[in-house]
Amino acid sequence: MKTPLMWRVFVLSAVLAQGLDAWRSDHEECALPLKHFKYISPSGYGEKCITYTNVTDAFHEACRGILGIEPGTDDLTDIQLDNFGDVIQETTRILCDWFGLTKDQVRSLLPIINTANTDIGSYCPKELKSYPGNDCGNGIGFRSADGRCNNFVHPHWGASKLPFKRFIPPDYGDGIKSIRTSITGFPLPNPRSISARVHKDIARPHRTDITFMFAAFGQLIDHDLTLTAETKDPITRQEIKCCSGASHPYCIPVNVPTDDQFFVGSHRQRCIDMIRSLAGVNIDCPLGPRVQTNALTSAIDGNFIYGSNENVAKKLRSFEGGKLSMVPVLAGHRLKPILPPKKHQPDDGCIRPHPDLYCFLAGDNRVNEQLALGVLHTIFAREHNRIADELCAINSHWDDERLYQETRRIVGAMIQHITYNEFLPKLLGKHTMRKYGLELSPTGYSNNYDPDTDITIPAVFGAAAFRFGHSLLPDAMERWSVDHKFLGSRRFSEMFQQPYDLHKPGWLDQYLLGMVNQASQAMDDAVTSQVTNHLFQEPANDYGKDLASINIQRAREHGIPSYPAWRQFCKLPPIKSWSSMLTDISNATIKAYYDLYTSPEDVDLWSAGVSERSIEDSIIGPTFGCIIAKTFSDLKKGDRFWYENPGLPNSFTLEQLNEIKKVKLSRVICDNSDNIVTIQPFALEQPSQYKNNRVSCKGYLLPQMDLWAWKEYTGCCSKKKVPNPNNPNTQIHKVQVNEWNKEDDNLQKFIQAIAVNISSSKPNSWK
Ligand code: HEM
Ligand SMILES: *[C@@H]1O[C@H](CO)[C@@H](O)[C@H](O)[C@H]1NC(C)=O
Ligand SMILES: *[C@@H]1O[C@H](CO)[C@@H](O)[C@H](O)[C@H]1NC(C)=O
Ligand SMILES: *[C@@H]1O[C@H](CO)[C@@H](O)[C@H](O)[C@H]1NC(C)=O
Repeated sequence: MKTPLMWRVFVLSAVLAQGLDAWRSDHEECALPLKHFKYISPSGYGEKCITYTNVTDAFHEACRGILGIEPGTDDLTDIQLDNFGDVIQETTRILCDWFGLTKDQVRSLLPIINTANTDIGSYCPKELKSYPGNDCGNGIGFRSADGRCNNFVHPHWGASKLPFKRFIPPDYGDGIKSIRTSITGFPLPNPRSISARVHKDIARPHRTDITFMFAAFGQLIDHDLTLTAETKDPITRQEIKCCSGASHPYCIPVNVPTDDQFFVGSHRQRCIDMIRSLAGVNIDCPLGPRVQTNALTSAIDGNFIYGSNENVAKKLRSFEGGKLSMVPVLAGHRLKPILPPKKHQPDDGCIRPHPDLYCFLAGDNRVNEQLALGVLHTIFAREHNRIADELCAINSHWDDERLYQETRRIVGAMIQHITYNEFLPKLLGKHTMRKYGLELSPTGYSNNYDPDTDITIPAVFGAAAFRFGHSLLPDAMERWSVDHKFLGSRRFSEMFQQPYDLHKPGWLDQYLLGMVNQASQAMDDAVTSQVTNHLFQEPANDYGKDLASINIQRAREHGIPSYPAWRQFCKLPPIKSWSSMLTDISNATIKAYYDLYTSPEDVDLWSAGVSERSIEDSIIGPTFGCIIAKTFSDLKKGDRFWYENPGLPNSFTLEQLNEIKKVKLSRVICDNSDNIVTIQPFALEQPSQYKNNRVSCKGYLLPQMDLWAWKEYTGCCSKKKVPNPNNPNTQIHKVQVNEWNKEDDNLQKFIQAIAVNISSSKPNSWK
């Protein structure tokens, strides 16, 4: 094919960018021989190959000269990455057209082509190359901020800003990027119809004894694992309003059926806002179907506290004593510091009734989504600062950086321990814990590190399986007193993205006590209307969005295959007919599916997953149980920094490890609340007289880590490592930090005054 002039200019700049060595003149070279698979040439001429020139030609046709990045650009923003990903998918589609490839060929063969030999290669940024000069040499002792180099052979495994992995190939409508369709080729049933029919608001308390803290901790862990890169306004980071006419190509609003009693009947709303997640690009920039980007590091490492890249991590630190920035606004009430205000892009994920009112800043941007997250974020940030202070007293020769990193390592280990010791056994049950090797050794090391296991989170986990928690939500958060008496409650719809109650003296403790006393809702197909009708409701409205519809639509636009495909992946009895669902799902729900879907093959995973009856001693059904267990198994085996690993430069000493294994969530709550005196030992389960009776925070029944295990005996020859005061970097930080705090003092006083005013202007909003 002849290359038009404009393209030659492109090719030439690509050549210069790559260096002349890389230019192999033979671009007629075969990129993918077609003879090895069943292939019928659409032109009838019997092409033997897809050549590199074909790929380059398709690429230029796809981007039509507008890519928004220059060849050789590194550190792409998420929008640039999305553009690039979008063009790569379009290239895939064009090649699919030209060569008449099947869906299977698109997903299994096109990714084999080495795009480094095409013009795509010159745009592939450094951070997406499998060996970017492989600089994992240093930093073996501590996790990097963006998770890179956890695995030495595959430095990108589990790093932030990379795509989710796939357990099974994606299922897009067109095989490449469009939203999933029915096996008949027609669109799937309307997500809101499924939500309204199957995921009704029926209050059933959980048959086991889990507290709301169980759901809240689950969400916190999710925010350590996944945040799918979202399409937002690039400047304000506000949502794009597809329902009010924004014509973004990624708009996929849910059209509410006319017979909907709530949205149409009561509020005349025909549309629920929704937009596709950003496209991502896989490592080495291959062709193939659409992928989505995980903005977080995969490993359980406390990134919701620390951030998932160096820039965010720096913004959160105080650079003194290894601590995080927190503000002592409630010090006058003798209460501990709270999280700092989010002043950059303040409207991102935050509803602000007044321009001087701010939400909180933390390592994960969803900290303000609902109050329970704000509560737990505060507790864990305080825990970091508490430990840093103690370590500083024990090892006075450690500088800020050392204190920060050592503390971060301990806090990350504590989160791993609580997750595998308290949360997962309750969620998955004994049998599944054992089957997937998730059990901890009671004391000491466990030697299971497997460098061939990829810790990258699978797409299905974030888009469907770990969203099981949406079924557990009650409709309000309770506040309880220090002697465990109910004080009041606040509906979720009143505090989505409005965490202002945490400015009120004493309320953090009251919410914490509420979370450990209040029961969770049952794990079933019912979901509270607080999230199916009122999600992110603005103060002026009586309706919001529908999370169940969004979950269903989200998985479809991520190409997550249907429920039967996951049953097969999990080696569970196959779903061949409606009646084969009876073993795990109730008659009524199957009847609803029968009315809504054309075929059992089409049923959406999230909907069926939450509707499955839970297996014996667990909270969750077999399909979600399998997907979640497999994910957490990879996270345990494949994490070089797994806290039980022995013999690595980053390993804890045996003594230190056994201190970490003493930790319980209740201990963290006791140590970092303002004034909690008693609590049940297992905070994820309700207190009960015989099994989980409340104990004193001070007593031996809630053992404390002894941080003297971290004492570094430096001996006689120790050299104190003091930061160089002449180092310009240290000076700049000092100045910035001080100014910032001063400014905040006044601001925070003001915020507090406003918060009190807002609460007194809404006398009916809590009992
Ligand atoms: C009041 C509580 C909660 C609210 C308001 C909430 C809301 C949301 C929203 C709005 C999304 C993004 C939906 C989308 O656009 O695709 C989401 C995603 C998600 N939620 Fe929840 N959620 C809550 C509780 C939970 C709980 C308890 C869990 C788990 C135990 C959970 C797990 C997840 C997961 C895994 C995602 C996907 C995150 C991603 O990859 O971006 N959520 N939730
Ligand atoms: C692919 O490239 C070869 C030469 O490299 C050319 O002969 C052929 O026509 C191209 N095919 C298509 C479909 O463009
Ligand atoms: C569910 O349906 C099956 C088959 O139609 C029937 O045998 C069974 O009794 C039903 N169960 C309930 C609880 O209605
Ligand atoms: C709070 O309300 C009082 C009385 O209504 C008013 O005088 C005061 O200015 C308000 N404070 C703020 C910060 O808005």
